[in-house]
Amino acid sequence: MIGIFDSGLGGLTVVKSILKILPQYQIMYLGDTARLPYGNRSRELIYIFTKEAIDYLFKQGCTMIIIACNTSSAQVLRKIQQEYLPKFYPGKKVLGVVRPLSEEAARVTKNNRVGVIGTRGTIASGAYIRELEAQNSRIKVFQNACPLLVPLIEEGWLEKTETKKMLRLYLKPLKDKKIDTLILGCTHYQIVFSQIVKIASKRVCVLNPGDTVAKSLQNYLDRHPEIEKNLVKGTAHQYYATEITEIFLHNAQKWLGQKIHLQSAVIEKS
Ligand code: DGL
Repeated sequence: MIGIFDSGLGGLTVVKSILKILPQYQIMYLGDTARLPYGNRSRELIYIFTKEAIDYLFKQGCTMIIIACNTSSAQVLRKIQQEYLPKFYPGKKVLGVVRPLSEEAARVTKNNRVGVIGTRGTIASGAYIRELEAQNSRIKVFQNACPLLVPLIEEGWLEKTETKKMLRLYLKPLKDKKIDTLILGCTHYQIVFSQIVKIASKRVCVLNPGDTVAKSLQNYLDRHPEIEKNLVKGTAHQYYATEITEIFLHNAQKWLGQKIHLQSAVIEKS
C-alpha cells in the first residue's frame, strides 16, 4: 500500500491526483487532524509527529509513504530519510513533495522568477529556496507565508469574500516581483486552486501540486520496479484521521467527490 500523510484535509488533494493518475494502487491516508495545524509548530515537534505518523502507516502495512504535508517535508524529510529510516525501516521509502514541485517549477519557469506560498514553517525552513536553486542557480525565489489560509480552508470557507481577500493580500508581494510560476507549498491551498489562479494574473503559471506529485510518483515507480512490484493493487482504499469530526468528513467527501469510510487512527506516542 502507498501511505499518504498530511496534518489534515490538504493531503487529500494528493490522494485525488494519485487515484486519477495511478488508479491501480491501493492507498492508505492518514490525516493528523487531532494535532492540526502543523504550520506554526517547532521543527522538533514536527519531527516527532512525522515519525509517529510513519510508524503508524508502516505498521498498518504500507510499503512506501508520501509525506504530502509540505511543512513536514520541508522541515524533517531529510532527517527522516537519513537517520530514522536506516535505523528502524531499512529498505522502506518515504518521499516528500518539495523536490517534485521544485523540479516542475524549474522546468516551467521562463523568467526564472518563482513564487512560493506556504505555512510559516515551510517558508522559514528555506527548503524550496534550496531545492529550486539546486535545480537552476539562476532561479530567484520569492516566498510568502500565509498562516491564515489553512484555518479558512479547514472551515470550508472556499468561496467566501474573506478568503479571496486574504489570497489577494498574500499574493500581491509575489505578483509585484513579476513571478511567472507559483508553487502552492501547502497541500490545503489546492482546495482554493481556482480562486488562486484568478487572483494570480494570467502571466503566472500556478502549478497543480497534486498532479505534479502523482506524476513524479509515477516516474519514480517506473524507475524502481523493485518497489513497484511490492505495492498492493486494488481499490480498497483506507482513510484514517486522528480525530474524526463532521466537518472534516464533510469536506473530505466533498473534495474527493465520493463517500468514504473514515476510521479513527490511534497514534502511539514515541
Ligand atoms: N497541510 C500542511 C502543509 O502542507 C499545512 C497545514 C497545517 O498547518 O497543518 O504544509
